[in-house]
Amino acid sequence: MQFFLDTADIDEIRKGLDLGILDGVTTNPTLVAKTGRPFREVIEEICSVVPGPVSAEVVSLDAEGMVREGKMVAQWAENIVVKIPITTEGLKAINTLSQEGVKINTTLVFNPMQALMAAKAGAAFVSPFLGRLDDVSSPSLGLVASIIDIYMNYGYETEVICASIRHPMHVVECARMGADIATMPYAIFEKLIKHPLTDAGIKGFLADWEKVPDKPF
Ligand code: E4P
Repeated sequence: MQFFLDTADIDEIRKGLDLGILDGVTTNPTLVAKTGRPFREVIEEICSVVPGPVSAEVVSLDAEGMVREGKMVAQWAENIVVKIPITTEGLKAINTLSQEGVKINTTLVFNPMQALMAAKAGAAFVSPFLGRLDDVSSPSLGLVASIIDIYMNYGYETEVICASIRHPMHVVECARMGADIATMPYAIFEKLIKHPLTDAGIKGFLADWEKVPDKPF
């Protein structure tokens, strides 16, 4: 499974890279706004430090505008992925840009048919939003399972990015289902490695280590 950070904060991204297992980054307008920095500057900086795919979102609502913005953003770096919401206009833009070789991450996906349409249009990635579905009492993990089943039935190579992740169990369940990628805030990335019994175990071993005679280190 690939791990992406869902952030535009360069310090968090550097911390993630230091762990050595960060595969990519997703951003959205909300995350970029939080940095208080210009869009292009932020995206170019992230692309320069992250070797993997970096998603940057378009904001036009019509296909023509999405294609124009997508083409512009795609020129900023080789690892750019253009993020487009799954609307009627979005679908047209996904189709056009994918045919021109631009990688697309289809965002704001909340049902399996949206994901199938995105794959048919040639999207490289599709992002079902788990947390936002949970927020309205809709089963989010079932959505991921359905998308994976449907893609397998027809051999689509579109990669599934589990997004809007709110806690480690979302990542566990997505991994169990074989989702390609989980994108998450840095706080959750850190939580994945932590366990109180690991910390307690280290404490106990270090206390006993003090009793070992002639320690080599
Ligand atoms: C994914 O690409 C989105 O940026 C993100 O996961 C949205 O998460 P949120 O629902 O926590 O805003």
